[in-house]
Amino acid sequence: MTISTANPRRTRHVALIDDVEAVPAGVPAPSADPRPRDARAWVREIAAITEPDSIVWCDGSDAERQRLVDLMVDAGTLLPLNPELRPGSYLARSDPHDVARVESRTFICSREEVDAGPTNNWREPEAMRAELREVFDGSMRGRTMYVVPFSMGPVGGPISQVGIQVTDSPYVVVSMGVMTRVGDAVLRLIDDGAAFVPAVHSVGAPLIDDTGAVSEDVPWPCNDTKYIAHFPETREIWSYGSGYGGNALLGKKCFALRIASAMARDEGWLAEHMLLVRVTSPEGRRYHLAAAFPSACGKTNLAMLRPTIPGWTVETIGDDIAWLRPGPDGRLRAINPEAGFFGVAPGTGVETNPVAVATFDRDTIFTNVALTGDGDVWWEGLTPEPPAHLTDWTGQDWTPDAGRPAAHPNSRFTVAAAQCPTIADSWEDPAGVPVDAIIFGGRRATNVPLVAQAYGWEHGVFMGATISSEQTAAAEGTVGELRRDPFAMLPFCGYNMADHWAHWLRVGASLDPEKRPKIFQVNWFRKGPDGGFLWPGFGENSRVVEWIARQVDRSRGTRTDRGAVESPVGLLPAPGALDVEGLDLPDGALEALFEVAPEPWLAETQMTAEFFDTFGNRVPDELWAQLARLRDRLESSSPK
Ligand code: GTP
Ligand code: SPV
Ligand code: MN
Repeated sequence: MTISTANPRRTRHVALIDDVEAVPAGVPAPSADPRPRDARAWVREIAAITEPDSIVWCDGSDAERQRLVDLMVDAGTLLPLNPELRPGSYLARSDPHDVARVESRTFICSREEVDAGPTNNWREPEAMRAELREVFDGSMRGRTMYVVPFSMGPVGGPISQVGIQVTDSPYVVVSMGVMTRVGDAVLRLIDDGAAFVPAVHSVGAPLIDDTGAVSEDVPWPCNDTKYIAHFPETREIWSYGSGYGGNALLGKKCFALRIASAMARDEGWLAEHMLLVRVTSPEGRRYHLAAAFPSACGKTNLAMLRPTIPGWTVETIGDDIAWLRPGPDGRLRAINPEAGFFGVAPGTGVETNPVAVATFDRDTIFTNVALTGDGDVWWEGLTPEPPAHLTDWTGQDWTPDAGRPAAHPNSRFTVAAAQCPTIADSWEDPAGVPVDAIIFGGRRATNVPLVAQAYGWEHGVFMGATISSEQTAAAEGTVGELRRDPFAMLPFCGYNMADHWAHWLRVGASLDPEKRPKIFQVNWFRKGPDGGFLWPGFGENSRVVEWIARQVDRSRGTRTDRGAVESPVGLLPAPGALDVEGLDLPDGALEALFEVAPEPWLAETQMTAEFFDTFGNRVPDELWAQLARLRDRLESSSPK
């Protein structure tokens, strides 16, 4: 960590990209790239606006992390946990009004409104620049501005990208150190000419006001006014007022999804809200699966799945974001651009996700969970029985009869991916892993079957485009309300969602049809008449994973038995093809999990048509054709 007002690194360094593949064709020449190249000049420019007391260039070292942690412990931002029970770990309690992503204050500032599309909040770029110039004016007064050079993906890798985040939050610096690859190697790439995504972040709580009066700091500074602004054409990010999660860790949703999706559109690749796993069958055959589920709908759980069926293993590559690129061999290759997990705590427990529990047994930052009497953490679902007494996420006394949750529903753990006991040895392969199957999912109490396979790529894109899911606590809004969440990207697509669908159709067409991933849809959340889940979920999801892997085999001719039967909504497991042995499902549950009732489905197609209509003429004809075919299949299956 160096403290100065200018970056002292001036020496040239050996490029780090020698030992990896060349950048694939289709990536524009650097001259076409609108991003800045001169990190020092850009940092000076931001400092002139935000007026910090000092500037610190971060190197991502352990010593730097320790210094920042000590500083935050002194400030009351971090509470050290019991080193015997949770070594190297801390609890942070946020401001109670700064607990989740703020979609209503998330903006896509493309030149044309139609390029943001009806699902994004659009602002005219110059108007937004003027507004931001005002809110950021002096916003870091009395604070330190940290400069965090980071890489999304292995440093120098052919699918990777670099960025620089400036921030006045040490919590954000330490979190970025877990979630991304921070350090001098990144600055060397930039010094050698790599374009970077400039990302400006301020909690919006200056310690010195306009009159020069100095105020005391608080453990979690933030501002009631928030802006999470993106300029997809110039690849810039400006975030103000929040220190929490995707609002503030700008490598994550802002860069790796909103900005990267716009880059991907322009360059022929995909940036998606997907987990990534490697599955191995009992006979040693490998499959790579990428799965898109909306926020808090089970990505981390599937990414760390512990199969209940013998002989199968699942290894973790990523739990939230995947970047996928057509490779020279006509296959789609994917990397996890992140280096850590920012996982939902509630519902993650010894029984539901033992792998996650083992991952965060040390060196973890917990935010907005409850504290036990002996200095450990707890949340709803960590153990079946709550402790008799806790300090809740707001710092108040809590007992099981309190009538309110001990942990915030969007409380999270921040931990290095390398700590995951099931991390795949290939998780940092800069060239990515070849994707065999793509899965879309959501939280649906009704209609959507446990699993279905798309009839082809185009039908799969239609499935992705029409996902809806019951809202979770990961963003502000009404929990449980059904909303459309196409590709699980509703809050994360940096351009017109309908163009995203057209882009998926194009990318599919660019792949070798024989080697294209097969597309599936899953739903772990269907409920029975008693309101309970019909499917046990978690480790038992391995049974669905097995069926998916076997369907991939069948598509390649390495297996010839009958795996599936046709239904109006897609291919469903043939009788006996889904292994439910030993599950003890109640009578009728399996039938209910796969029931495709024409009536409610026809009503869904009506809603889909209305949804498509909101995008005007940007919806690809192919998706309207898919909708018409779905209707036909439903009508011909419907009793006359
Ligand atoms: P983000 O990090 O917000 O993008 O979400 P995520 O998709 O990674 O969410 P995560 O895997 O952490 O899931 C959060 C919630 O889903 C927890 O409350 C889990 O208990 C629940 N969940 C995950 N898998 C299953 C399942 O198979 N069945 C049921 N019923 N619940 C599940
Ligand atoms: C999500 O909401 O999908 C997350 C958490 O993964 S955040 O990083 O806050 O976006
Ligand atoms: Mn997410």
